[in-house]
Amino acid sequence: MEKKWWQEAVVYQIYCKSFLDTNGDGIGDLKGVMQKLDYIKELGANCIWFNPLYVSPQVDNGYDIADYKNIDPAYGTLDDFKKVLEEAHKRGIRILMDMVLNHTSDEHKWFTESRKSKDNKYRDYYIWRPGKNGKEPNNWGNYFFERNGSAWEYDGRTDEYYLHQYSYKMPDLNWECEALREEMYSMMRWWLDMGVDGFRLDVINILKKPAGFPDSKAAPTLTNTKNGYIVDRTTTANVEGIHELLKEINRNVFSKYDIMTVGEISTLKGMETLPFFAQDSHEIDTVFVFGVANRDEIPASPKKIKEFQALQLSMSRRNAWVTQFLNNHDQPRQVSRFGNDTEYRERSAKTLATMIHTLVGTPFIYQGEEIGMTNVYYPSINDYNDRYTVGSYDALTKNGMSPEKALAKLRPISRDNARSPFQWNDRENAGFTSGKPWIKVGDRYKEINAEKDLSSPDSIYKYYQQLISLRKTHPAIVDGLTEFVDFENENVISYRRTTSRETLLVIANFSDKTVGFDIGNELASFKWKTLLANYSDTAAVPEKTEWRPWECAVYSLEF
Ligand code: GLC
Ligand code: CA
Repeated sequence: MEKKWWQEAVVYQIYCKSFLDTNGDGIGDLKGVMQKLDYIKELGANCIWFNPLYVSPQVDNGYDIADYKNIDPAYGTLDDFKKVLEEAHKRGIRILMDMVLNHTSDEHKWFTESRKSKDNKYRDYYIWRPGKNGKEPNNWGNYFFERNGSAWEYDGRTDEYYLHQYSYKMPDLNWECEALREEMYSMMRWWLDMGVDGFRLDVINILKKPAGFPDSKAAPTLTNTKNGYIVDRTTTANVEGIHELLKEINRNVFSKYDIMTVGEISTLKGMETLPFFAQDSHEIDTVFVFGVANRDEIPASPKKIKEFQALQLSMSRRNAWVTQFLNNHDQPRQVSRFGNDTEYRERSAKTLATMIHTLVGTPFIYQGEEIGMTNVYYPSINDYNDRYTVGSYDALTKNGMSPEKALAKLRPISRDNARSPFQWNDRENAGFTSGKPWIKVGDRYKEINAEKDLSSPDSIYKYYQQLISLRKTHPAIVDGLTEFVDFENENVISYRRTTSRETLLVIANFSDKTVGFDIGNELASFKWKTLLANYSDTAAVPEKTEWRPWECAVYSLEF
């Protein structure tokens, strides 16, 4: 496949609301981003994905859009955005916007019109249905467990229900409506014509709804139900017609620009994702597969991570380009979930990053990951802002779980673990704001902050810099073949990346103990050079056979 710029990209994800506040209102803003463009550039990232910046009532921190063509005043103005775009481009940094196509805010003009009457021009932009025997049209539940739990909200004005798979303040759009589709295409072109370099496509596999809106047949569990309404993506996602729809979007918008599109495919975990991003599908360039990075999965063992990476590999062998990530704004912090955020915080953060940045695919860094920010584990349910956390707590306790147990279950998986303010320094509010932060600062900011990392030669940030620069000097990272070494090993993840001119060998101990590791006779017959390691005295293979807790190294063999 012909090489695209985004295959060589390193993407830095900015959750603007929690990044840097410059006017003391407690909310991060674009002027804050502007001040930190050099920080991102020096890290080595060359692309930014912005979580939604559009005008929004902030019910779901911007995923509830009230105006697609303007910037939320809390973040700044459209001119501020254009300045960020220009300054980023000057630095060789591209910009991806988050594109939310499944729903809008109920405060979007289309919806305030749509709900007025059945013959309103915008009625069909949304999904309206009459009730069934005085109840909702089906048993679907809303993802945030709001209100009575249903995904349908009654509107007395027209005596019908509208569909909302998330908040009742986020009505689902009707992609069957041609006028809506045209409106969305022209809006996306408007951003691309302005110069943005692509889109991260929110919940892209649920745009198409199942014909007839059938009831979910899933068994109710403690975690998927409230009052009998069921959140069940096997019924609502990836339904027939989704691929035709994505091909149409591609034809009308994406194919006309040299951009990157990355789709969030939240429910599929295996080869079924392939049609969405295989090159000859002409749908999306790449996707996030949540094989191991999904907070609801049991923490993944090194074996599970390898199995997932083997799956990614087989997809990439079928002409599909994958992504590498272990966290984002919806997931716990990776060092807390996959690493060890106390005794081995720095070492394990570096080891996780080493895997992400040396396997095939485009790596994503979520803000704060590069300094090893950890989960915040807020102590009280009142500290949480995320509607999913708060709604789940309500559902769990209604389903009979004790409040203590419900909180204990949610603390490690809450989306707010990733949304606490960026820790810039050890001063008040971690340097995020001079006012009152919209969400509590994590209590480890004196120990974990960017200022400290920038001034220490062995910091996680400095390690990321070196790791990212390897991508630029060793083509095997982007282009090489991948072969696992001792795939069955319980603790160590190891593989080689090979082109006709070089071989890289990565060995990473994903455990808290010292373990033995044998690279095998063939590899041991070569002389390896150490390119990067997370202990200062890591010896070269083949002499080295013992790996200390979370020790990792990248070696090279040039010929
Ligand atoms: C995606 C976003 C998440 C949001 C949801 C609804 O999963 O990543 O933050 O709540 O879509 O838009
Ligand atoms: Ca602000």
